[in-house]
Amino acid sequence: MCAAARLAEPARMTVDIARGLLAGGSERYEKHLPDLAGVYRDDGAYAEAVALDGGEPVYWVESSTPETGRGALTIGLSVLRPGRIGDEFAMTRGHLHAQSEFAELYYGVAGSGVMLLESVEGESRALPITPGVVVHVPGGWIHRSVNVGDDTLVTLFTYATEAGQDYGIIADAGGMRQLVVADGDDWTTRPNPDHGGYRA
Ligand SMILES: [Fe+2]
Repeated sequence: MCAAARLAEPARMTVDIARGLLAGGSERYEKHLPDLAGVYRDDGAYAEAVALDGGEPVYWVESSTPETGRGALTIGLSVLRPGRIGDEFAMTRGHLHAQSEFAELYYGVAGSGVMLLESVEGESRALPITPGVVVHVPGGWIHRSVNVGDDTLVTLFTYATEAGQDYGIIADAGGMRQLVVADGDDWTTRPNPDHGGYRA
């Protein structure tokens, strides 16, 4: 080890649940409805929602990467507002880690959601996530958050920074294999007719 190497300063962050903020975080991005073309399957409902859009973000992510290099963690807060486009619930774009063997942990902070996970080979899982629930996303699983409740879904996540994200894998497949859709007052999954399989 290089004698001159400096240790990163230990970091402390606080979650502001009501405002969906990660105090002490350093990065933020927002996704607005017009940014999410192709994510929802009902083109007509999406166009109608865009026409009526008030400009509030659908979701935002506040995060911090307190150190760099091998072994570093990115810690973040994902905040997904409730809503429906056709019979689908508000959701994040979703991704596979660019280095797909890297896992991730999600912790439910507020609201009622589903983590939709799919393998390239064809398996699907839909895991409810509510306050106090921990979801482990193993390596190799494409994942997205879906807000199936009436309130904002807030989750805390952490992953190895070097994992990166491949957002194109879902778009290239015509969407994820399963859709998370309304079923009365509840939710269910049904096959996405536009899904053409994931590239290997
Ligand atoms: Fe991830």
